[in-house]
Amino acid sequence: MEYSLQADHLSKVFNGQLPAVNDITLRVRPSEFFTLLGPSGGGKTTTLRLLAGFEKPTSGRIQIGDHIVADESHFIPPEKRKVGMVFQDYALFPHVDVAGNIAFGLRGRRKEQSKQVERLLALVGLSELAARMPHELSGGQQQRVALARALAPNPDILLLDEPFSNLDTGLRAQVRSEVRHILLETGTTAVFVTHDQEEALTLSDEIAIIFEGRLIQVATPHVLYNRPINTRVAKFVGDANFLPAEAHGMTADSRLGEVKLFHPKTGRVDLMIRPEALAVSFEEGGRPAVVRWREFHGHHQRLGLELADDTELIARTGVDQYVRRGDRVWVSLARPALAYDSESHKVLE
Ligand SMILES: Nc1ncnc2c1ncn2[C@@H]1O[C@H](COP(=O)(O)OP(=O)(O)OP(=O)(O)O)[C@@H](O)[C@H]1O
Ligand SMILES: [Mg+2]
Repeated sequence: MEYSLQADHLSKVFNGQLPAVNDITLRVRPSEFFTLLGPSGGGKTTTLRLLAGFEKPTSGRIQIGDHIVADESHFIPPEKRKVGMVFQDYALFPHVDVAGNIAFGLRGRRKEQSKQVERLLALVGLSELAARMPHELSGGQQQRVALARALAPNPDILLLDEPFSNLDTGLRAQVRSEVRHILLETGTTAVFVTHDQEEALTLSDEIAIIFEGRLIQVATPHVLYNRPINTRVAKFVGDANFLPAEAHGMTADSRLGEVKLFHPKTGRVDLMIRPEALAVSFEEGGRPAVVRWREFHGHHQRLGLELADDTELIARTGVDQYVRRGDRVWVSLARPALAYDSESHKVLE
């Protein structure tokens, strides 16, 4: 089976509104962690609800494994799709203990059920807490119970809708890497929804960018970060500097001097430069700049630089380099820049 999930030309229009989901085509491979990333109101939850079967598509087709679950002549209800779902608010049953919550979707004999519950409790590291009630658990523990409950019936696909957004920052990073490990261990195919670019980049095998119901780019985190298809995606997935320039093939003239390009281009372009692609030095080379501000992040620092012509740039460097506000430094480009067409804001025509 090449794909665990295929969606083709999927659209959803709610009464009298612009399409919430507009002609989306996706392919998810077995065991992949696939993320839908986009701003609020963009159609991520609606896409997930279409995949789960909580909404009927206005048009398009969904296939899970070898089964068509939705098209113009089929509609398989959620309970028959073999998908598990984890929501933002965990939605545990409050009057049932941890083991009971995990056993909720299980059928078959009692003995096998309790074996499966034990296995999942061990998987999510909660064997000691089987008899606790949901209100006696921390947020992170509740989220792990919700995950175990969704995994218990061995779903073909797990759908996760912003499952970490109710956790505070420290716990969030911990729980999400735990969840990632559990899914790797079980080889589960997952479709994950978030509007947090950092979360998407750290967890995903593949990321689909969705703006206003439309699929804009599908790529690995590495490609998405380094070769975003247009300037909006570039800004959405990380810090980006943009510099106007005049391109001549593999080089361009810019306020940082002549710089190398990643793709050949001619004419007016906007260079996209990630902060870590700028080299900052006290030794002469490149362009002079003044450090306007410095943000310390422990493992790196962000620097606000100002060139003589008032151009502002953000750089990210290691903290072994001691730089203070007001310092005079030299800045140059350490790797080829991505050039976007000034009119269309796209990389390649
Ligand atoms: N049941 C519904 N009836 C009418 N409109 C809806 C319904 N559900 C969602 N919408 C609309 O569809 C659009 C997409 O909503 P959706 O919840 O899919 O966005 P989202 O990307 O998940 O956003 P967020 O990041 O805020 O959760 C929004 O404009 C929303 O108002
Ligand atoms: Mg949503």
